[in-house]
Amino acid sequence: MKRQKDTRQDSYFKKAKEENYPARSVYKLQEINKKYRLVKPGDFILDIGCAPGSWMIYLSEKVGRKGKVIGVDIVDLKIPLKENMKFIKGDIKELVNNFEEKFDMIVSDAAPGTSGVHFVDVAKSLELGKAALDIVKQSLKPRGIFICKIFEGEGTAEFLKEIKTLFISVKSFRPSAVRKYSREFYLFYLIAKVFKNE
Ligand SMILES: C[S@@+](CC[C@H](N)C(=O)[O-])C[C@H]1O[C@@H](n2cnc3c(N)ncnc32)[C@H](O)[C@@H]1O
Repeated sequence: MKRQKDTRQDSYFKKAKEENYPARSVYKLQEINKKYRLVKPGDFILDIGCAPGSWMIYLSEKVGRKGKVIGVDIVDLKIPLKENMKFIKGDIKELVNNFEEKFDMIVSDAAPGTSGVHFVDVAKSLELGKAALDIVKQSLKPRGIFICKIFEGEGTAEFLKEIKTLFISVKSFRPSAVRKYSREFYLFYLIAKVFKNE
């Protein structure tokens, strides 16, 4: 079957180029933040799977000079670091006990390199989500916020169930900037607010 052309994909791609973001994924975060009003000036944020860096640019602008954004990825950023940004190159699965300070917000847009085998790719995505959640348990401030990208499939329901035990409000949201035809995955974001950890 011939793949339908996703015109929104082209328009987000062009917009990102025009606005100097290295990736179109910034518009997903922008849409999430416009809907749920999550990022505040002065926030201290961990951005998991941050490369090439468009979420970091957006977050650093929103938190301002008094805030800070720490990004982690296994590959390098494609943006210059601003004063309120820091980058750690590494695998999120190995960084659970690495953070001394606590974050107001932890966001994960991390995605595995895909194999095309659906259950394998869903499992790899879930593994990244679980690693992010391990960091949340260690390093998110009480009442903090967690945003996590998920490929729906086996294990997702249990993951969501666990998150619901840790936060007061958990919503699933699929921004319109998510590519419609590019993957076979149903991809969405979990927006978890008010971390219950004392
Ligand atoms: C969709 S991209 C993120 C785009 C980013 N939010 C932006 O706006 O520029 C997903 C990222 O997850 C990263 N990633 C995959 N596995 C990872 C891991 N184990 N640890 C850290 N980052 C990982 C990839 O290298 C990739 O850069």
